[in-house]
Amino acid sequence: MHNCIQVNNHEMTNMYLDYWGFIDFPFENVPDPKFFYLSSSHKEALTRLIYAAQMRKGGAMLSGEIGCGKTVLSKVYTQRFSGEKYDIAFIINPKLEADEFLQEVLYQFGINHTPHTKVECLRMLNDRMIENIRRDKNTLLIVDEAQLLNGSTFEEIRLLLNFQLNDRFLLTIILLGQPELRGKVRDIEQLNQRIAIKYHLTPFDFEDTLKYIIFRQKKAGGKENAFSIEAIQRIYEYTKGVPRKINNFCDLSLLIGFSTQESKIGTKLVENIINDGALF
Ligand SMILES: Nc1ncnc2c1ncn2[C@@H]1O[C@H](COP(=O)(O)OP(=O)(O)O)[C@@H](O)[C@H]1O
Ligand SMILES: [Mg+2]
Repeated sequence: MHNCIQVNNHEMTNMYLDYWGFIDFPFENVPDPKFFYLSSSHKEALTRLIYAAQMRKGGAMLSGEIGCGKTVLSKVYTQRFSGEKYDIAFIINPKLEADEFLQEVLYQFGINHTPHTKVECLRMLNDRMIENIRRDKNTLLIVDEAQLLNGSTFEEIRLLLNFQLNDRFLLTIILLGQPELRGKVRDIEQLNQRIAIKYHLTPFDFEDTLKYIIFRQKKAGGKENAFSIEAIQRIYEYTKGVPRKINNFCDLSLLIGFSTQESKIGTKLVENIINDGALF
């Protein structure tokens, strides 16, 4: 019985793809750079973060509401630097005490045997950065969900920005986080001053929502847009242009549209989804 259900689910999802003519699922909520759409806000964010790294600024901060695309943007960002002269550590779960945080930073730089004491960790990190300078490499530390950092870990980050050589920062720290991150950084004046580059990522406007929905369908192998313009207008109003919400909405629309054998996703189907309240 159990197996039977699994087989049916599998067939269902395949049929959803076949029915709409996709090779991949167009609206999956995974930060896959392949599906990255460059809206004007995402472009500006990327430009500023690239500038921060290239100019060896001390720090940069990217804030934005949940689901706006900070994490996927950071993937595109690091991909941009792969093969170039960058040494990158990426922290995705920063809810750590200050000492653990330093160990995690070293670990993410690929150092497996991290020292136990803080002073040794800092020395090791310092050596790494000096070595990178010698090899003409930039050192980059990216912290996702940085609003979760606790007070002492913020303080540790501030201290990391003291690593300087002849006025040049040895390390560029990129903080990504939800809107409350801005207030937390502002409260630590010395940190705030060192974070020279800041940007707040905004949701898509209608124009970008429309282009985004079409773009993702194409990337998934679709030959034509399955959504009417009016349906996209309603999806935009309902999701307020937040990409993760758009993905959920569009994915569900395609599934229901398949099960009721629609030829296109129109306003009626979209209204039904909104009214049944199951989405958000
Ligand atoms: N510019 C974009 N291009 C393509 N997909 C995006 C974009 N922005 C967001 N997404 C989609 O929305 C989802 C949520 O984005 P994410 O980066 O996780 O948001 P955040 O980190 O801001 O909460 C991602 O998994 C991705 O599928
Ligand atoms: Mg994220």
